[in-house]
Amino acid sequence: MAQASIYDRILDPASRVNPFPLYAELRRTPVTREDDGTYVVSSYRAIVALLHDPRVSSDLRIRAELAGTPPASEDGAPGPPLPFINQDPPDHDRLRSLAMRQFGPPHTPRRIDGMRPWLTEVSTELIDNLAGKNRVDIVEDFAYPLPVTAICKLLGVPIEDQPRFSKWADAIIQAIDPTTGTFDERMRRRERVTTELRTYLNGLADARAGRPGDDLISGLLQDTVPPGPMSRDDLLATADLLLVAGHETTVNLITNGMLTLLRHPDVLERLNREPGLIIGLVEELLRYEPPVQMLPNRTTLADIDIDGTTIPEGSQLVLVLAAGSRDPSRFRDPDRFDPDRADNQHLGYGSGVHYCFGAALARVETQVALPELARRLVNPRLLADPPPYRPNPVLRGPRLLLVDYDTVVPAEAQLVPAAPGRHTGRIPKTRH
Ligand code: HEM
Repeated sequence: MAQASIYDRILDPASRVNPFPLYAELRRTPVTREDDGTYVVSSYRAIVALLHDPRVSSDLRIRAELAGTPPASEDGAPGPPLPFINQDPPDHDRLRSLAMRQFGPPHTPRRIDGMRPWLTEVSTELIDNLAGKNRVDIVEDFAYPLPVTAICKLLGVPIEDQPRFSKWADAIIQAIDPTTGTFDERMRRRERVTTELRTYLNGLADARAGRPGDDLISGLLQDTVPPGPMSRDDLLATADLLLVAGHETTVNLITNGMLTLLRHPDVLERLNREPGLIIGLVEELLRYEPPVQMLPNRTTLADIDIDGTTIPEGSQLVLVLAAGSRDPSRFRDPDRFDPDRADNQHLGYGSGVHYCFGAALARVETQVALPELARRLVNPRLLADPPPYRPNPVLRGPRLLLVDYDTVVPAEAQLVPAAPGRHTGRIPKTRH
């Protein structure tokens, strides 16, 4: 039997707890070819070069397995259009810029930063719920409901529909995991769920077309300035993308953040004294414990020479961002968690034209969440270290993170002022 490659060993769920020594092994040959012809890239320099190379495509329709045809559903009908994360310029750029108008400066400058007080209120409420208990699952009770409630609010999804969404988002995220079937099988699974999700979103868009609100779907529907308006199909693909991308990623960043703080009590203690520390701390988390470990979705459009290897046209690439962000030829002492690190151009949000669209939101969410947890949970202790991990090698994070604490500091003592008015929405807990 052929020996398992380093990449095979990384994909093994048993490696999820600590894949970093394997990434270091992988980096010794920054571009490696797997038996199936996939090229795995692990050095910072090579990953950045490929992320900025127009000969590298994110378009799933050109994958050899799909023989150049759009994904089709089982009855042979054309599949739903791809979201812009799976498209190349110029279509990617047009759709992304239309979506960006709704998401931040210069068109909607306060949309994200303006959510800070609301996020603080939601965090307060979630932590208030822990009073009178001594144990919390950070994932279920906090890290999951916060970003999911936020992305639903942004998109205008009624809070009571959120459990259905979470089920769809989880299924779509599972389809990204290369260990859960062949590419073709995974695409078909994803399409089935996508169809359900987009049918729901279509109903929501119909409702918003009649009665627009202050949400992103309403904004997209009303934006007719060229290159708008976005077609209904593209709008549904965009809403679906934001919803899925806004789910698991930030959950993992907050959870990884709490885990890292509990492993570095000196930093946790400093955070309580120095509120400004959170800015660098979140960036360092994105480098040191990134939620997105690798991008398995690129294809070469031409032969590409990199690090002494020629990657042939039509090859699948796996860009191991987490290995690049710990590359010692780019970062000093890369295996050390250092929230004061000044030179920190990590790959946590990717790079190039597909650089994370939701980075600003994820930053604000985590910058609000971690200091609140650090401040209000008295004497927090990890129940198990390491905690159990989800098997997904692309989106890595603990399945649950049990923490014991003595008591909960009352909210009134908070450092960040809450917004006027009270948050009255129920915050559902629906993770499976
Ligand atoms: C800590 C949380 C997050 C992390 C670590 C993260 C990471 C990433 C990464 C690595 C990419 C690059 C994908 C690629 O090059 O193929 C990406 C793209 C993207 N992210 Fe995030 N993300 C996070 C949160 C969010 C949130 C909250 C949203 C939505 C509100 C979001 C929306 C997107 C979208 C739409 C793209 C595609 C951008 C494009 O193709 O132009 N992300 N993200």
